[in-house]
Amino acid sequence: MTGDDGHGTRRAERLVAAGFAVCVVAALALALVYRRGGQPQLEGALLAVALGGLGFGLVTWARRVLPHDEEFEDRETLPTTADERRQVHDTVEGDEVIARRPLLVRMLGAAVGALGVAALFPIRSLGPHPGTTLERTPWERGRRLVNAEGHPVRAAEIPLDGLVTVFPEGHVGSSDGQAVLIRVGRGLLEPVPARQDWAPEGLIAFSKVCTHAGCPVGLYQADVHQLLCPCHQSAFDVLRAAQPVFGPAARPLPQLPLNIDAEGFLTAGGDFSEPVGPAWWARR
Ligand code: FES
Repeated sequence: MTGDDGHGTRRAERLVAAGFAVCVVAALALALVYRRGGQPQLEGALLAVALGGLGFGLVTWARRVLPHDEEFEDRETLPTTADERRQVHDTVEGDEVIARRPLLVRMLGAAVGALGVAALFPIRSLGPHPGTTLERTPWERGRRLVNAEGHPVRAAEIPLDGLVTVFPEGHVGSSDGQAVLIRVGRGLLEPVPARQDWAPEGLIAFSKVCTHAGCPVGLYQADVHQLLCPCHQSAFDVLRAAQPVFGPAARPLPQLPLNIDAEGFLTAGGDFSEPVGPAWWARR
């Protein structure tokens, strides 16, 4: 190696180390910004600087530090001379370019490690595992139905073809517990196996959360007994357990079993017949 080559290589190594150092600093700054609440533009800029520093270091290392000389050897002279063996030994063990590589390797490790630390922080944003919470709502056996003001609903208050939005008592405003309560003419409901006593006196309740994309199903067309979702016009047949009859929804609205207590108030007989809302998350 000539003096000029050695000087150029040392300069290239310093550039490589500088690139990795920039990566480390930017990655740690990224982790700090995220930890303090985050700022998307700043996080993006720091990530770009970190990856840029890492890329610059790797490319400079490959192009300006690693040797590019081509070595030839005649196939006939397979045995090596003592000089050749010494040359190989010097190249691998004794050359100062090689001797400085551990520094670059450590810098590369630090850069990748710092980026890894920064990448770990967003995992905290995933939040706790939902477990079975998506499959349950606040409804339970004996819990009264209340209106939006929190007042218990009497069966006698609901007129024929009337619709009321109801919630589980103590959970007014519940997004997964909201339901629509409808009274239909006696004898119109098609019996559903295992649900014969879920609709006393023609009062029937379904989840208000559309099974297509989760919009509130709050429109009732009494002449055809259909609940309508205003978002994408799905229609559900109230007389047939809210089966979808039009639109993109592919699943019926979950039904809430109802009872009437001794004072005439409506109570739930349990939770909905199945998980509420879009079912994409339940696909396995
Ligand atoms: S959310 Fe109801 S039809 Fe799309």
